[in-house]
Amino acid sequence: MKNRTRTSRTIEKCPKCGYERQPGDLAPPYECPHCGVVYSKAHVKKEKADTMPSKDHSPIQKAKGSRHRTGQNRGMDDDLLKEVKLLIRSRYSLICLETEEEERAESLLRHLADQMGLPLFIWIPTRGLQRADLGKAVYGSIDPKMALDHIEISKYPAIYHFQGLGPFLEDRVLAAQLVQVARRFTEVEGAIILTGTDVQIPRPARAHSARLTLSAPRRQDYAQLVRQIYRDLSRRMHIRVTMSRDDMNKLLNNLHGLTLLEAEKILTKAFIVDAKLGPDDLKLVMQAKKAIIEREGLLEYFPVERSMTDIAGLTRLKAWLAERKSIITQPERAQDYGLPFPKGILLLGVPGAGKSLCAKAVATEWGLPLLKMDPSNLYNKYIGESEKNFKRAMAVAERMSPVILWIDEIEKAFASGESEDGGVSDRVLGIFLSWMQDRRGDIFIVATSNDVTRLPPELLRKGRFDEVFFVDLPDADVREKIFDIHLSRRGHDPSAFDLPSLAAATEGFSGAEIEQAIVSAMYTAFSGDALLTTELVVGEARKTRPLSQTRAEYIQDLRHWAKGRTVSAQ
Ligand SMILES: Nc1ncnc2c1ncn2[C@@H]1O[C@H](COP(=O)(O)OP(=O)(O)OP(=O)(O)O)[C@@H](O)[C@H]1O
Ligand SMILES: [Mg+2]
Repeated sequence: MKNRTRTSRTIEKCPKCGYERQPGDLAPPYECPHCGVVYSKAHVKKEKADTMPSKDHSPIQKAKGSRHRTGQNRGMDDDLLKEVKLLIRSRYSLICLETEEEERAESLLRHLADQMGLPLFIWIPTRGLQRADLGKAVYGSIDPKMALDHIEISKYPAIYHFQGLGPFLEDRVLAAQLVQVARRFTEVEGAIILTGTDVQIPRPARAHSARLTLSAPRRQDYAQLVRQIYRDLSRRMHIRVTMSRDDMNKLLNNLHGLTLLEAEKILTKAFIVDAKLGPDDLKLVMQAKKAIIEREGLLEYFPVERSMTDIAGLTRLKAWLAERKSIITQPERAQDYGLPFPKGILLLGVPGAGKSLCAKAVATEWGLPLLKMDPSNLYNKYIGESEKNFKRAMAVAERMSPVILWIDEIEKAFASGESEDGGVSDRVLGIFLSWMQDRRGDIFIVATSNDVTRLPPELLRKGRFDEVFFVDLPDADVREKIFDIHLSRRGHDPSAFDLPSLAAATEGFSGAEIEQAIVSAMYTAFSGDALLTTELVVGEARKTRPLSQTRAEYIQDLRHWAKGRTVSAQ
């Protein structure tokens, strides 16, 4: 397979932003039409032109590139470029390019306009409409209406790139004007391209419009960014890279999911703080990434420390997960074999039985990052905000994929029958269900719940989750193992304890209650300066009234419901 097609054309790049000089650009000293920096010919960076950007042959990229993830657009930008070009040639007059990275979209469209030989106009809310290769904005065009008026009277073929027009289209008059103006591109070559997140194409324009997604940056993009920052900074200061190849790999893995702009900020800071990029900067990258993910207040980047060996019992669930692990570790093989990425599981069950623990363990076991969604932060008093919050959170998860999305106590997010919220939870549920169908990227959902009566039936319909597991209270064997795990974790040798007696004394206890009995006994031992013994723990257990006694009916109902509807996790 041919990977590159080299041509003899030489391209000259701006030393600051990498903008490729076009034949029509001014003579030296140059002013970069992209970033505005002025430079002389001596600064120009020359490169052999590739008609196709080089492909990354790293195993990770191979694996990623070969999967469909975000539709066909995921992977190479040049695929997207071709697709947009084809759409414009097929007279699609309005194209929505979904992205959080306006800058990347802009440079892609510059290439596109260049390849198609069309002028590019860019509109941004703070500057108005401006021809990309000229310095002045059209008078008064900060007002989007004026910008559209201008397009309407202009007779020439062109590409118009509108950044951040989405919120303005809530104005119906403006949306109607956009539809009307876009119609002219069914006759004249060109198109209006809207970029941003959450841009709604007005309904009447949908027949002549298309929606695409700008793929997330690839590993090689981050690698190139590191090199570029190093080159730029080393012109101004003395800096070093003290990372091994392994550290650098980890760094690139950790940058995954960030926009190039976010990554640039973090990396520049990492370099500047101590004039080097070293292994300890990995922590900085991870912290910054955590902060970016948690900025929206809906997702938590969960540090994972547990593994499956920390969980007693749940044999079937573990086997189910182990069977699917190879889909994550060998994505290419799995895809060739026709296996889709698993959708997710719902863990139903008794409180304290280890549902949340399992979510954390899946992430460790599969080696994927864990994002926890907290439904209680979902609802906002401002109308429409909850839906937007939710969509934003889902977009972050998609950007981070492959990822485990853990929705703890899902009934709190989509509780049915709560009429006092004005239908918000129903709408959010609707968004969630359709997102589950069309989600982009490999996202495995681990949802947990301990109240089936509050779960909307739509969520339980076949096909939503790969499997619904019921996590019941542990039997005697499993209780022994839970004692074993938690005693050793706290520095006690389990062989010094009579595990069968402990298991017998904790009939009906959940894992959490067993753990609590151990901790309480440790307090007693510590304050009495005594040794922790089987008797002490049994004594604590006797004092405890487990949930299976205090809420026997609830547990009975739960078991009854689960029978026939769920698969046992044990
Ligand atoms: N099967 C188990 N093996 C080992 N430890 C367990 C097990 N089940 C529960 N535990 C202990 O109990 C703690 C609480 O469990 P966890 O939070 O996972 O329960 P849960 O089912 O999510 O409960 P809830 O419904 O209240 O959220 C765990 O952190 C773990 O220490
Ligand atoms: Mg839990």
